[in-house]
Amino acid sequence: MRGDAIHLDAVTKSFGATPVIDAITATLGGGEFTVILGPSGCGKSTLLNMIAGLERLNSGKIRIGVREVQDLPPKDRGCAMVFQNYALYPHMTVEGNIGYALKVAGVRQPERSRRVAEAARVVELGGLLDRRPSELSGGQRQRVAIARAIVREPRVLLFDEPLSNLDAKLRHGMRMELSQLHRTIGATTVFVTHDQVEAMTLADKVMILNKGRIEQFDTPHAIYYRPASSFVAGFIGAPPMNLLPVTGGGGVLRLDDGTELARNPHEGPAILGIRPEKISIGDKGFAARVVYREDLGSHTAIVARLSGGQEVQVATPIGMHLDPADTITFDFPQDHLHLFDPATGLRLETP
Ligand SMILES: Nc1ncnc2c1ncn2[C@@H]1O[C@H](COP(=O)(O)OP(=O)(O)O)[C@@H](O)[C@H]1O
Ligand SMILES: [Mg+2]
Repeated sequence: MRGDAIHLDAVTKSFGATPVIDAITATLGGGEFTVILGPSGCGKSTLLNMIAGLERLNSGKIRIGVREVQDLPPKDRGCAMVFQNYALYPHMTVEGNIGYALKVAGVRQPERSRRVAEAARVVELGGLLDRRPSELSGGQRQRVAIARAIVREPRVLLFDEPLSNLDAKLRHGMRMELSQLHRTIGATTVFVTHDQVEAMTLADKVMILNKGRIEQFDTPHAIYYRPASSFVAGFIGAPPMNLLPVTGGGGVLRLDDGTELARNPHEGPAILGIRPEKISIGDKGFAARVVYREDLGSHTAIVARLSGGQEVQVATPIGMHLDPADTITFDFPQDHLHLFDPATGLRLETP
């Protein structure tokens, strides 16, 4: 089964006088895995809750498939939701928890047991149906919550930071499982997170929210290689892209103190973006002084200070010997520059 598309049409929400979601219009593809990513407080949960029907819109419309749903109660929207705190019923077994919604919906035995067993199999909980939540690990509890959502065979699956309570190793395992699950069941999936790794690895498309507005809604590849704004550029990547105020003229971009950073035809002020792993260190370019170094095994991360005092993060291959206070020479390759409008933050297309 392939899930329905979700159409957001000028969806707007404020709490009191505070606007939280500002006229968002977008289509989340049917059967696709969409991740809503953004800093804490940017409106991710509010947007998801409006799709689920847990929060009313101030204005705008939401369609799931061909149906307008903004005035329907949650149970009539064909969505199932998984939260960060799994909220399992402690006195019920795993089987009871997974099957509860079916029981409420009047699905009888043996159909109910068959569907519970199938959902438990998909999340690999098959042997644990008789356990209670207190007898499960955090990862297993999260799987019960996911099984409880998929057992209803929803057309739309909504996740609100479902992995945030798990440790790093489990999160990695669950990412792989969620990705496989999505391929298996084909439901339209909307997944809210503030974790860019989850977004980049799970998503068909990432919606980056900032203060209730969409900064960019595109593939993980496009978000990384062609960030639409300096906000996206500075949000994605670990460490994120370096952003430096420059002025272009005569075919070069300069810092305020006149240092020539790169060749580029842009004229006038701009924000120059360059990723830490794209800066090369060699004998041509401009001077910088190492202020901090971390050997990370796969590479060395350094912080260096430019002549104007700006700090730049650089990732270099391991083996390069650099010490704090060393002076090095940077080159910003022209192919790897990103330019943004200093007034609007929007990407500038260079000729
Ligand atoms: N029920 C509420 N009443 C008032 N303000 C709220 C309510 N829910 C959320 N907010 C505010 O709306 C903003 C967005 O919240 P939320 O959608 O939870 O953000 P996110 O999930 O991105 O962290 C925050 O500033 C939050 O404080
Ligand atoms: Mg939230």
